[in-house]
Amino acid sequence: MMLSEWMSMVKEGLKYSYAPYSGVKVSALAITPEGRVYRGVNVENASLGLTVCAERVAIFNAVSNGERRIKTIVITSNLDKPIYPCGACLQVMSEFGVEEVIIVHGNEVIRHSLKELFPRPFSDWRR
Ligand code: THU
Repeated sequence: MMLSEWMSMVKEGLKYSYAPYSGVKVSALAITPEGRVYRGVNVENASLGLTVCAERVAIFNAVSNGERRIKTIVITSNLDKPIYPCGACLQVMSEFGVEEVIIVHGNEVIRHSLKELFPRPFSDWRR
């Protein structure tokens, strides 16, 4: 799959976002090293703190389908500026070996390494 296909697929996900409280629609892809793609959207709740970000939903979707390694995360939103992942999502990305975070904003594509966005993750105390 090419970047342009990831861009279409992540933007298409915005229609599934459940964000009646904030109005911020977010969609994310979790892409494995083999190129399998899992999508997630943010899911809000009347009890606002129960909201889950699109990035974590995408990652948990991948893991729920048997994946253990995720190489790339692609994100977009309906905001008028590029959306950056929250700290909680960065920590979850680090758990599954994410290397690259691609932020899509219209036709603009911004690439970051996870290392750059989150240089010092908490890691397994047994290792
Ligand atoms: N949100 C995400 O889905 N991903 C992010 O990286 C940041 C925030 C969602 C959570 C909530 O539904 C809305 O955006 C506003 O915070």
